[in-house]
Amino acid sequence: MFSSRLPSDLHPNDLTRLLAEKRARGMDIIDLTESNPTRAGFTYPAETVIRALEQEGSLVYEPHPRGLWSARHAVAGYLEGEGVRVDPDRIYLTASTSEAYAYLFKLLADPGDAVLIPRPSYPLMELLAAMEAIHAIPYDLSWTPSAGWHLRKEELEASYTERCRALLVINPNNPTGNFLRRHEWEEITRFCSTHDLAIISDEVFFPYVLPRSRIHDPPVSALALPQQTLVFALGGFSKALGLPQVKLSWIVSNGPAPALREALDRLDVIADTYLSVGTPVQQAANALIAIAGTMQGAIRTRCQTNLDFLSSVFPADGNVQLLRPPAGWYAVLRLPSHFDEGLTACCLLEEKNVLLHPGYFFDFPGGEHLVVSLLPQQDRFEEGIRRTAELLC
Ligand SMILES: Cc1ncc(COP(=O)(O)O)c(C=O)c1O
Repeated sequence: MFSSRLPSDLHPNDLTRLLAEKRARGMDIIDLTESNPTRAGFTYPAETVIRALEQEGSLVYEPHPRGLWSARHAVAGYLEGEGVRVDPDRIYLTASTSEAYAYLFKLLADPGDAVLIPRPSYPLMELLAAMEAIHAIPYDLSWTPSAGWHLRKEELEASYTERCRALLVINPNNPTGNFLRRHEWEEITRFCSTHDLAIISDEVFFPYVLPRSRIHDPPVSALALPQQTLVFALGGFSKALGLPQVKLSWIVSNGPAPALREALDRLDVIADTYLSVGTPVQQAANALIAIAGTMQGAIRTRCQTNLDFLSSVFPADGNVQLLRPPAGWYAVLRLPSHFDEGLTACCLLEEKNVLLHPGYFFDFPGGEHLVVSLLPQQDRFEEGIRRTAELLC
């Protein structure tokens, strides 16, 4: 009766069951998977946000497939501040980044086609692809002590099939935090031109280079690439402003002129079919963007402070090894090989009331990784990491 786009087994796993049991008993769990900034104790410029949402223009409905011009202009202004110049006419507003993926998969792929996705990475991509009846084929990222996480062109070629329609990158990646470096972009552009693939670059964490990270080159957005193939870069207020609840994201499109024109005409049809972004948030966009600097600064400082503590407990050359992220909201711990990440996460929750993500959640190979969110409030984070160390060390 039901579509095979959804997973056939919807039962919760052991960790989720244990968490639900503990919460039902009213136990205080230190949640080191927290990815919702509105629950992480940040002080938001509340007045600015509330006033921004009180616009009289919200009383009028003027639908446009790409979104209100004023809001697209505001997003273009924000991106210019990030060092990327874009024409507001190439911007599509969506309610979420997930919806942006859904539009692009509809644009580029037929049922049964495929997209290439990085592994490890953001777990929702496989489901988003399945919802459009397409396959998500992983290409592995590699880790070395000198280069950190990086992409190898051999992995792209090994994963490619005739049904591939697009290459997805996450820049910087969640949860590994690595940016694509210039030579990686060159490989990607060559690979995508050769196989006629579009590039979808998820740049929601682009503003989150950690202050003390040791990256040598400034991060490069997909929008700065030479226009050899279609490029779609994604971002949104959920991460850029720490406001996931206002529901405003965007697709910026780029590429060689004839293909781009065709893509925009088709995206207009898709977006016009849904028109899902509310007028109030579009009317508020310009005023909301005013909080970007404050919120990004506060989030970067929190993530760096928590990362510093984490690295004091788990150094890069320790038994439990910190794979230091240059950017983003997460850090990865590599366990000694005799540990099982799933069992370890369950033991931590059972014995120490600390919740961490086991690596399989992000499709890490090898079964020996834990992922820690750097967003939680400092005192809770430190207590959670101390308890984690008691169990692991
Ligand atoms: C890489 C990445 N892309 C997109 C999203 C979701 O963004 P949105 O809330 O705009 O759908 C997330 C959420 O954590 C993410 O990690």
